[in-house]
Amino acid sequence: MKHLRRSFLGKAAILGSSGALGLAGCGDDETTPEPEQDPIFQHGVASGDALVDAVILWTRVTAELEQVTVTWEIAEDEAFSTLVASGEVTTNADVDFTVKVDVTGLTPATSYYYRFAAEGEESVVGRTRTLPEGSPERGRIVVVSCSSYAHGYFHAYRRLAELDDVDAVVHLGDYIYEYGTAEYGDIRSYDPPHEIVTLEDYRRRYAHYRKDEHLQAAHQRHVFYTVWDDHEFANNAWKDGAENHDEATEGPFAERRTAAARAYSEWMPIRTDDPLKIFRKFQYGDLFELFMCDTRMWGRDEQAADKDDPAILDPERTLLGDDQETWLFDGLVGSTARWKLVGQQVMMAVLPLQALVNTDQWDGYTPARERFYTVLTATPVNDVIVLTGDIHTSWASDLTPDGVAYDPATGDGSVAVELVVPAISSPGLGELFAEVGSEIELDHPRFKLVDLVKRGYVVLDLTPQRAEASYVFFDQVEAEEAEELPPRKVVVLAGENRMTAG
Ligand SMILES: [Fe+2]
Repeated sequence: MKHLRRSFLGKAAILGSSGALGLAGCGDDETTPEPEQDPIFQHGVASGDALVDAVILWTRVTAELEQVTVTWEIAEDEAFSTLVASGEVTTNADVDFTVKVDVTGLTPATSYYYRFAAEGEESVVGRTRTLPEGSPERGRIVVVSCSSYAHGYFHAYRRLAELDDVDAVVHLGDYIYEYGTAEYGDIRSYDPPHEIVTLEDYRRRYAHYRKDEHLQAAHQRHVFYTVWDDHEFANNAWKDGAENHDEATEGPFAERRTAAARAYSEWMPIRTDDPLKIFRKFQYGDLFELFMCDTRMWGRDEQAADKDDPAILDPERTLLGDDQETWLFDGLVGSTARWKLVGQQVMMAVLPLQALVNTDQWDGYTPARERFYTVLTATPVNDVIVLTGDIHTSWASDLTPDGVAYDPATGDGSVAVELVVPAISSPGLGELFAEVGSEIELDHPRFKLVDLVKRGYVVLDLTPQRAEASYVFFDQVEAEEAEELPPRKVVVLAGENRMTAG
């Protein structure tokens, strides 16, 4: 491990407070870069896809060089007195100067600290955590989705960076949005200012997002497990197109898809060989298994035109694609974990508002949804919790196959539960709908919690006996200060396949 110089500089770099390195009080060091030089590690650090013995470490360098050698090290303690592993990698423009290291040989259920160094500069220290083996008594994850930069401030990221007692963050997509400045939200401006279409555009948008201090802090503090949704590509994307893609003016969709997936694989701490293939699973001992699915891009057929389109009933249409469907179903049937968490993009419960029927969701692919339910009931597979983003509103509900009666008093008929998590910042239905959520809860008892307005995050606390989801909302995201409201909770007891209002 080569000696890392001037370790005190890292924090100034990530906070952006001192800006240029020359201001950081190191006048006695003749290697001080020119004051106008940008910090090397201005996009922070991140980690992801931890296993029991491995984790992806991520950073990016900003340097006017053809190639940059980056040193990394990982330790058991924040002071790096007990080094566990270290090494060197090179990066260049082919990967947008991003750095990803798959560190192996780690110990299960252990927190680690990591940092990078390049060109005499050092990154901030990140923290990460490996998965446990055996029979953990408890696991806690934060589940988030939908961070539209233009619609406000990332209070959820700020807050979860302060949470100490969570093991990981699960991000269900819409991590970035593709729009230009003021095209969808006008509180903050984008770089680039236009809608992103090319590889260069997508890279710049990720870089822009990663300059957000709250997002950086969240990555620095927690290991992430991510999947994309549509806006990492374009609105209401499917495998060969998108609502917000015009081939006449924006070129072949396949090129945009390749560019977007490449930028995602460069900028996200995800372990993937094929940038387009992101479905994968993680084992948290025998407490839970996390299936991270791609209902958006891998196999999705085009959305039906509207709720009366007979295509909705076509059993040939799919959200997952045949191979991913088989992978998921086999994985669920074969799982030996107590809880089976299905992280995916679009709402599975039947939307109880006729006016809002959304053919982009499972409502638009009903035979595919029935195939999922059939696997749960025929085997049976118990203790499945579907984790959903995409829709910028919160819905915690029991799930019932088509044609099966649901008993509102007992929950009989329910075969699994779904937690649709709120957006971090993307807009819900607006204040006019503030009361509608509680009306739905009264009129449709399968929904134990509905909020159509507020933004926030969910903490999912799992033990072998119960799963408790805390929905945490903020009063607003439009201003830099926000108040966190008291959480609303729902509970699922093991073996019941239905919710209990918390
Ligand atoms: Fe979204």
